[in-house]
Amino acid sequence: MDALAIRPIPPEATHALRHRVLWPSVPLDAQGQAFDAPPSVHLGAFADDILVGVLTLVAVEGKVQLRKFAVAPEWQGYGVGGAMLDAAIAYSQKQVVLDARREQVRFYQKRGFTVLSPEVFVKRGPGDAGPPVEYVRMGNTTPDA
Ligand SMILES: CC(C)(COP(=O)(O)OP(=O)(O)OC[C@H]1O[C@@H](n2cnc3c(N)ncnc32)[C@H](O)[C@@H]1OP(=O)(O)O)[C@@H](O)C(=O)NCCC(=O)NCCS
Repeated sequence: MDALAIRPIPPEATHALRHRVLWPSVPLDAQGQAFDAPPSVHLGAFADDILVGVLTLVAVEGKVQLRKFAVAPEWQGYGVGGAMLDAAIAYSQKQVVLDARREQVRFYQKRGFTVLSPEVFVKRGPGDAGPPVEYVRMGNTTPDA
């Protein structure tokens, strides 16, 4: 892989990958969320100036919640997601929590996250307009723990 650049992007820049990767049945113009507004931060991963990954960091009760993490399918498995997770942790400087799609739990476990609660819950995407997807809550340790 060529050098990957990870940097903040405007909220609207996340919509196309959210639509393509996470909730394709939800219209592109419905991918925005109330939590996208500042102080939330959106990180984009660029390969040769092409946006190949997005995630959103939302401040919640003294922690940072990582949301809407999506790598373009043709770029998955090449280390983009791992690099973005590292960047998100470094950027946050607080405990990072997230609702993990069940099929991605191992991806986060390999990178030091643990399941915080055994409860499995369902979300349906923006406006509850997508199909049911099962999640578990995960988190890493705080930087100063
Ligand atoms: C999850 C996601 C962001 C990871 O990005 P990525 O660029 O593919 O991740 P990387 O290439 O850095 O890492 C892939 C690693 O995770 C592993 N991995 C990826 N998906 C996995 C899965 N479903 N189960 C087990 N391991 C998985 C790979 O084997 C690889 O392992 P390695 O670290 O030993 O090499 C990306 O696959 C994605 O966008 N998936 C679809 C949307 C999604 O599920 N988003 C997250 C919602 S919680």
